[in-house]
Amino acid sequence: MTTPREVRFPGRGRALVSADADAAARLCAERFAEAAREAVERRGRFAAALAGGGTPRRAYALLGEAPLAGEVPWEAVHLFWGDERCVPPEHPRSNYRMAREALLSRVPIPEANVHRVRGERGRERAAAAYERELREAFGGGVPRFDRVHLGLGGDGHTASLFPYDPSLLERRRLAVGALHDGEGRVTLAVPVLDAAAGVEFLVTGEDKAQRVADVLERSPDPVRIPAQFVRPAAGEPVWILDEAAASRLRGTAAE
Ligand code: 6PG
Repeated sequence: MTTPREVRFPGRGRALVSADADAAARLCAERFAEAAREAVERRGRFAAALAGGGTPRRAYALLGEAPLAGEVPWEAVHLFWGDERCVPPEHPRSNYRMAREALLSRVPIPEANVHRVRGERGRERAAAAYERELREAFGGGVPRFDRVHLGLGGDGHTASLFPYDPSLLERRRLAVGALHDGEGRVTLAVPVLDAAAGVEFLVTGEDKAQRVADVLERSPDPVRIPAQFVRPAAGEPVWILDEAAASRLRGTAAE
């Protein structure tokens, strides 16, 4: 496995910093494959929520090719999304389309195990349908994902939880609709992210460096920096970074 340097931010998270974006993507993919193998061995299933946007594409592509593709028990893997845009699945902005191109079309995951958010129905109907699917897949209560993958937006958003948006405060529904720059979104609500056994952010590039430092080192202001809302009960989030995205961190390396 790729060997990153580790930086701890007590109460906030643990950063694994790789030299560049490709090494960070590889580490993310390797960790996903390892977590999937372990969950399937222990519990017979691995349920993960994928991140959207552009950053995860390389990591998902690495998962879709040798050697990692052959190391994942795809028949027991269930994939969901942390968020989706309200567009058809073939639309260039669809997070599902990105994952299908990079990963789903290249591995033997059963179609029934791919739980796409039907964003084309509009944000409220799509959120309600996604919630029903989540409750069915996880036995009714708050879903406990084995792994939730997240990204970080330039404004500190994660999934489609945007600064000052009412969806940040949703504690009853599992999935909610949001509106961002005129585009409908569906996002997992914070309690679902916090119920996960493991949450991993994959963030690369100098343009995200200040925001990463804000999230991990600035005083808590989660309404303004929604990624700070994510505080999993099972353990601090892991931040998979490249050196560029870690370049504004003051934190000292782990002992
Ligand atoms: C989305 C994502 C979003 C994303 C960040 C970072 O649907 O856009 O879920 O939260 O992770 O905006 O996006 P990039 O990886 O493209 O910078």
